[in-house]
Amino acid sequence: MQRFQNKWALITGGTNGMGLATARQFIAEGGHVIITGRSIETVTKATEQLGESSYGLVSNAGNWQDLTQLRKQVQELTNTLDLVFLNAGYGRFAAVENADEAHFDELFSMLVKGPFFAVQQLLPLLKPGSSIIFNTSFVTEVGIPNFSVYSAAKSAVQSFIKTFAAELVTKGIRVNGISPGHIKTNIYSNTGLNTQQIEEAVTNLIPTIPFKRQGEPEEIAEAVLFLASDAASYIHGAELKVDAGIAVIR
Ligand SMILES: NC(=O)c1ccc[n+]([C@@H]2O[C@H](COP(=O)([O-])OP(=O)(O)OC[C@H]3O[C@@H](n4cnc5c(N)ncnc54)[C@H](OP(=O)(O)O)[C@@H]3O)[C@@H](O)[C@H]2O)c1
Repeated sequence: MQRFQNKWALITGGTNGMGLATARQFIAEGGHVIITGRSIETVTKATEQLGESSYGLVSNAGNWQDLTQLRKQVQELTNTLDLVFLNAGYGRFAAVENADEAHFDELFSMLVKGPFFAVQQLLPLLKPGSSIIFNTSFVTEVGIPNFSVYSAAKSAVQSFIKTFAAELVTKGIRVNGISPGHIKTNIYSNTGLNTQQIEEAVTNLIPTIPFKRQGEPEEIAEAVLFLASDAASYIHGAELKVDAGIAVIR
């Protein structure tokens, strides 16, 4: 299938995990992809893997200077975006008593302020028929100890799906989100846990997943591309759970 022939996507956090998998599939279906990441090393490594239809920008989702430069950087490559996938980020976890201001500001800057202003910046490049897709998380559906700031940040993003859908409907821009469950990515590498602690954490979470396995990044990419495609032409303001049912099964 070539659903995205000559279309352009901007994927924040496209150097790894779900963003990289989505970039790979978008290109496989005929599109061009601009990915962002925090360092030239990770961005270059990813664009080397993705090949000639990929372009990389060093842009930190939590950095105001970078956010204000984003449209200019993108316009050096294209004047139109068909898909913006707001995906960049990671979690950090702390009990309420231990979470300090830096923890709060780091997560809210990257996960809430980042996608908000990235959309604001990129809006002039989005035409009728374009799609905005946010990456939230199943964690918004439940109370998990130590997740207060991360879950609140993702809940704010859920709210953007609805308000942006309301505001952008007159421009013909569809706004939706995906809510992943436990997906096999590098997400734990930013948590401060060491390799053994990460392995233990993953081993412990597997029994809690209805399918008894983590999702593959490609399974998220399929959902993102569906929402971005013409097959989803009547889907707007929705959040698609791609989580093996973990948000609703107890
Ligand atoms: N994995 C899960 O189980 C899970 C579940 C629900 C939701 N999520 C969400 O899914 C999204 C993608 O994460 P992932 O699981 O695919 O993890 P990942 O493999 O670690 O990928 C994260 C991506 O985000 C980029 N990134 C991180 N911080 C950034 C920043 N400040 N500015 C720009 N780019 C940044 C990373 O690039 P660089 O390292 O190159 O900067 C990388 O490309 C995140 O929003 C995460 O919260 C993950």
